[in-house]
Amino acid sequence: MGPELTKKERCMLDGECGEGKQQAMEILLALAKIYGAKGMVPVTSAQISGVSYKTIGDAGLEYLQDLAARGTKVEIPACLNPIGMDSEDWEGMNVPEQFAEKQLAILKAYVSMGAKPTCTCTPYLAGVRPKAGEHIAWAESSAVIFANSVLGARTNREGGPSALCAAICGVTPNYGMHLEENRVADLIVKVDAPLQDRSDFGVLGAIAGGVARGRAVAFRGIKKAGEDELKYLGAAMAAFGSNSLFFMKGITPEWRVRDGAEEMAVGGVEMGRMRKSLDSGPEQDIITTGCPHASLAEIKDIAGMVKGRKLKKPLWVCVSRVVKEVAAKRGLEKVISDAGGRLVADTCMVVSPMEEMGYRSTGVNSAKAVKYLPTMCGQKVHFSRLGELLEFEGGKGKKVGKR
Ligand code: F3S
Repeated sequence: MGPELTKKERCMLDGECGEGKQQAMEILLALAKIYGAKGMVPVTSAQISGVSYKTIGDAGLEYLQDLAARGTKVEIPACLNPIGMDSEDWEGMNVPEQFAEKQLAILKAYVSMGAKPTCTCTPYLAGVRPKAGEHIAWAESSAVIFANSVLGARTNREGGPSALCAAICGVTPNYGMHLEENRVADLIVKVDAPLQDRSDFGVLGAIAGGVARGRAVAFRGIKKAGEDELKYLGAAMAAFGSNSLFFMKGITPEWRVRDGAEEMAVGGVEMGRMRKSLDSGPEQDIITTGCPHASLAEIKDIAGMVKGRKLKKPLWVCVSRVVKEVAAKRGLEKVISDAGGRLVADTCMVVSPMEEMGYRSTGVNSAKAVKYLPTMCGQKVHFSRLGELLEFEGGKGKKVGKR
């Protein structure tokens, strides 16, 4: 027996709510059949990936323009993943004009369908923060694992098109992470290593993700971790192992471990080995941080590190526009720009055309960025702690900022 549809879902499928909704419901139904879902589940928000011109190209732009031209509208609050540039300062970033034109056209198509031009992989820092137990349809992998693990919301790792379809119809197939029985860890990771800063959590995520390979992970032995640390951990797990859920004893809202779950230990030796393997050497034309997009706390830390000094290399701090505006009001953006850095909103080092801007090597403190910068941007990557990446006129970097 196929998935059961409600009356409203059936109307959408029959074309009574317009061609766009019909097409979207057909896609959702096909996915429901593939994944063995018994039906759909209503979702309260969608986060749509496939927004950068770099990743979807002309074919994606034409598809979106066609959908928008047919009057298709989203049914629920929908926000977007980072685009390929700062929508208000792409010239300042030196983004090629031809790229910018296409990127703005993509944004226009999404906005005309009713999506909010909040372009971030951290919607939970930009006013879209689902509660525990809430069903959502998010696409960006680091946002998905954060929502499931840290917020206790329920979302599968949607693709760009399926998240858009969920936004258009207000529902998503009810399988995977939406079902309680699947929210159970099959791998226990016992951590016995000092986690000194956010980049350490990324290193741990790369190790755990690589072993878990999609299975939920239960971490033991971590005494303290704030949201930023969990953000770096989850992003790396998703990048290195396609993971969508982890638990941390005493820290995350859920803790469920399957009887007989595999166990592994991670100590200083494993951490050191992974850290070394992520680093391709000290060259860096530019330093980028904010992967996932930086929080206000991270921006404060960076402002503290660069205050009153001059950076030797360009620095991008990738953020959502919402967080950038707060940072500007608090004077933090000025401190960073006075030092020669830049708060780059709406975009990130991976989805912007960095290679077209002449950058060949990038310094990062995010394990996730290490995974994608070589293939998507042709970059050689220097992975280190942020305090060690920053170099200043008249002296080496300040090794400050524990986080
Ligand atoms: Fe976000 Fe870009 Fe990193 S989308 S998680 S900053 S690769």
